[in-house]
Amino acid sequence: MSKPATPVESLTQEEAAAELARLADEIAGHDRRYHAEDAPTVSDAEYDALKLRNAQIEARFPELIRDDSPSRRVGAAPSATFAQVRHSRPMLSLDNVFSDEDVVDFVTSVRRFLSLSADAELVFTAEPKIDGLSMSLRYEQRRLVTAATRGDGTTGENVTANIRTIGEIPQQLPKDAPDIVEVRGEVYMRRDDFLDLQKRMAETGQTFANPRNSAAGSLRQKNPEVTKSRPLKFFAYAWGETSEPLGTTQYDVVRRFADWGFRVNDQMVRCKSTEELLRHYREIEAERAELPYDIDGVVYKVDRLDLQERLGFRSRSPRWATAHKFPAEKATTVLTAIDIQVGRTGALTPVARLEPVTVGGVVVVNATLHNEDYIKGIGNKGEPIREGRDIRIGDTVIVQRAGDVIPQILDILPEKRPRDSVPYVFPDRCPACDSHAVREEGEAVRRCTGGLICPAQAVERIRHFVSRNAFDIEGLGEKQIEFFFNTDKEALKISTPADIFTLKRRQESLPATLEASLEKLEKIDGFGAVSVKKLFDAIDARRKVDLSRFLFALGIRHIGETNAKRLARHFLSFDKLRTVAEAAKPPEGKGDPGNAEWQEIVGVNGIGGIVAEALVDFFAEEHNREAVEALLAAGVTPQDEEPVADVSSPVAGKTVVFTGSLEKMSRDEAKAMAERLGAKVAGSVSKKTDLVVAGPGAGSKLKQATELGIEVIDEDQWFERVGKPG
Ligand code: IVH
Repeated sequence: MSKPATPVESLTQEEAAAELARLADEIAGHDRRYHAEDAPTVSDAEYDALKLRNAQIEARFPELIRDDSPSRRVGAAPSATFAQVRHSRPMLSLDNVFSDEDVVDFVTSVRRFLSLSADAELVFTAEPKIDGLSMSLRYEQRRLVTAATRGDGTTGENVTANIRTIGEIPQQLPKDAPDIVEVRGEVYMRRDDFLDLQKRMAETGQTFANPRNSAAGSLRQKNPEVTKSRPLKFFAYAWGETSEPLGTTQYDVVRRFADWGFRVNDQMVRCKSTEELLRHYREIEAERAELPYDIDGVVYKVDRLDLQERLGFRSRSPRWATAHKFPAEKATTVLTAIDIQVGRTGALTPVARLEPVTVGGVVVVNATLHNEDYIKGIGNKGEPIREGRDIRIGDTVIVQRAGDVIPQILDILPEKRPRDSVPYVFPDRCPACDSHAVREEGEAVRRCTGGLICPAQAVERIRHFVSRNAFDIEGLGEKQIEFFFNTDKEALKISTPADIFTLKRRQESLPATLEASLEKLEKIDGFGAVSVKKLFDAIDARRKVDLSRFLFALGIRHIGETNAKRLARHFLSFDKLRTVAEAAKPPEGKGDPGNAEWQEIVGVNGIGGIVAEALVDFFAEEHNREAVEALLAAGVTPQDEEPVADVSSPVAGKTVVFTGSLEKMSRDEAKAMAERLGAKVAGSVSKKTDLVVAGPGAGSKLKQATELGIEVIDEDQWFERVGKPG
């Protein structure tokens, strides 16, 4: 974004709609460059910021969520799993309108574009807008040849094999169908089928948020057998390329699709006026909850195809159609409890448990309460929200649900508040592991400090622990970690980092019974003897680990790689660091400098109060101390760091260049030594160079140094200077 973005809170609805359109476009472009062209033009962080802003705007204006919203896209641009298909005609999206006036404007603009007089007849079709995913089915010589998702509108994914498993999609069209026709429509899942599927899948732990995600997820399976087992359905309502005209009106063509064996929506009607359109809209809206599938609006299309052709397209949507979206649904119900969920990073999120209430045809029993302040009636910038009203258990609350967004509590009805209600007290302990949950200054989120021992964070923590810049253990990816974490077999279980290092021992001490053999790792699907050996070797190789990596791996808040290195370089051994961190007492008030140990930590170059506090907090938790002890007991030994150059070294702060061949040390060793002594090693000579160490055969660099009058010494003189035996 070039100019500073307007804060989401201050956007008007119109600005928000425009920005969502812009973000959809921009993010789609980035997705394409990243996935399809392998040539991203923004950093991941910039990309994430765009997605975040999009999500924030959508959370504030759920009714503005676009069909092509980046938050709704299943796999962004076509993913690697499916071949790509270029659509012969682009698959466009629809413009959205929200109010009766918008509909009047739409009809007026169509009339104006066609120069129709006020009394000239203009017929529209009106039909439900299905909340599924759009699909293009290409038939050649009346046989289904390709089925493609919309993708970015130009290129989609080839999901033909999966589509063939959907019973109600014809594989073959009757004789009167043209040689080439692309039938387009919506793949969806009925709500009751979705609920059944949820039940069936509950054991696998893999479930979908709503019927639309479920339909999309079921379709994008590698194995068509899986898709086959999913209750997918299809409504036909549009078309792409055809070798001959299909009819003269929208209505007739859709009737023809029905004759060919496609399911079409029986709620499609023809309307002769804006009033009729709006009447049908209200009828569908009233029936929405009873319909067996999710819809999110009503689509109006100019019925005559010759007029559609004259009207044509804007850049991404037809002028002859629009979607009249339903407003976000609201309902009131009673808040029965507030539960705290712990996220993978330790964030505590309050969730409202509600007396079941139907909102827009969906039974809602949970809603998000965002964070501690939100419950208190305080906004993100400390400003009052809901006129400062807090939310209490027992309150009658207004719930809003829209599209995919998690339902939220908008407000309470103060007049219905029970007399004996009390303000909600946000817990300061983690409900998953009972560690302290702390909220840092300036942060909205309260976080569990349980880290390594918190089951809610465990998998993520272990993943971090073995990641490349931490313990760097190959063969332990997310899938494997999930497996080891979720198994209930003692000899396989990894629930803490220390368990990684006892795995081999536990495996080796399994008795030779048939029962025990089931716990053998090489018997587990996806492992096998070779990969097990590789994994054990990788683990063994890491028992000796750099102190800085060890510290980084612990996942202490604010201790990333850089701070881990700073601490390691200062404390040199884990014992020293732990002793100091455990003894440190942070300042207790203004004027209190904290004790000597605290002073030592904040005295480390680059380490400030926040990091120091995170370190001290970590070691203050008994759970964390135990987890660390367990690691050491399992044979993990953080290596002492070599003392770093005291500033008193004669080359400290100097820029040194090594050139020519060195005889007593390798170039790498020379570099490491100089750095240890506080020098900076450069690759070329410049005015900034302080010292050149030249071995035999030195050429242009030596010449340059002499010209610039820079001091040049040989290898022996170097050792003499730094006081090490040569
Ligand atoms: S007509 C050229 N009719 O809405 C436009 N679309 O925003 C052709 N949708 O991608 C689309 N129900 O996935 C049309 N009855 C309906 C629809 C419908 C749902 C979806 C479709 C499309 C999106 C457009």
